[in-house]
Amino acid sequence: MPTVLAFETSCDDTGVAVVRDRSVLSNRVANQDVHAQYGGVVPELASRAHAAHLVPTVEAALRDAGVEPHELDAVAYTQGPGLLGSLLVGSSFAKAWAWARGLPTVPVHHMHAHVLAHFLEPGPAPNLPFLCLTVSGGHTQLVLVHSADRLEVIGSTRDDAAGEAFDKVAKLLGLPYPGGPLVDRYASQGDASAFAFTRPRIEGLDMSFSGLKTQILHFLQRELQHDPDFVRLRLHDICASVQEAIIGILMEKLESAVASTGIRDVAIAGGVSANSGLRSALEARKAQLGWTVHVPPFAYCTDNAAMIGMAGVLRWEAGIRGTLASAADPRLPF
Ligand code: KG4
Ligand code: ZN
Repeated sequence: MPTVLAFETSCDDTGVAVVRDRSVLSNRVANQDVHAQYGGVVPELASRAHAAHLVPTVEAALRDAGVEPHELDAVAYTQGPGLLGSLLVGSSFAKAWAWARGLPTVPVHHMHAHVLAHFLEPGPAPNLPFLCLTVSGGHTQLVLVHSADRLEVIGSTRDDAAGEAFDKVAKLLGLPYPGGPLVDRYASQGDASAFAFTRPRIEGLDMSFSGLKTQILHFLQRELQHDPDFVRLRLHDICASVQEAIIGILMEKLESAVASTGIRDVAIAGGVSANSGLRSALEARKAQLGWTVHVPPFAYCTDNAAMIGMAGVLRWEAGIRGTLASAADPRLPF
């Protein structure tokens, strides 16, 4: 039963967790509020905030867990992908912290960790192989998980990520960054059939969201010419219709992946897996098509260090170790 201290600093949240086997002993996130006023993450400010947050956050995570450094087996950290400065601060800190205590390190791929978070308690671990739709602010991928250390991308977005599509449309609607959760909230009070948007025609399991964004931009420009109050008056219906369109693209490809692989164990992961429309669409397939579905608890949807800890435990058990030379890589290949 390895006990792993884990660091997640790929973007703008500083996460530190302690994971023992499949259970989370502590899971701390220091959010960075500084970016909201700029309408997006400012990389240099993110790096500086990580540097300021790491020491108090690691102390808090160990205190919450009631674990002393000598009880740890390894230190896991996000090696990439992500913002270079953020990854450099977090990985340098994690490697130095481990080296000073004579502990081995386990570098982790951020997107593998989103998928492997499904092995965390309290949920039942998924059966292998399973399919995972990984939808975040930077990635949208259909992953075939053969085992904890063999993950294969069988489809991905050709342009924007699903989270990016939510955030960009939210920005067009004048909502603050990140707009995805707000679109979700307003959508629950709107009519999803109020406005219809056409779906892109992409062969195979790949996806595209940039056309939808342009379509919505033109739609809003047209409607605002007739009525300058259109967005304010119809915000809930617009959000519900946009959410329906994005979820429609995702579910169509997920259904194709199930059909082409014959695998009916299906999971969702990443920030957009918190979306209520996506969650209910998946639950509906469970009832209609007999899928076994795995939906992560909200705490493990958006970026967190517990998922890095889970991936760290699984990779540590597989014998994977990093060195001081294992470099942060903003484009770490999957
Ligand atoms: O995985 P994540 O926390 O960070 C990345 O690695 O990108 O994902 C963040 C993304 C953002 O685009 C955010 O708007 C989106 O996830 N998101 C949502 C919801 N919660 C977070 N999008 C739609 N509905 C939500 N409830
Ligand atoms: Zn993420």
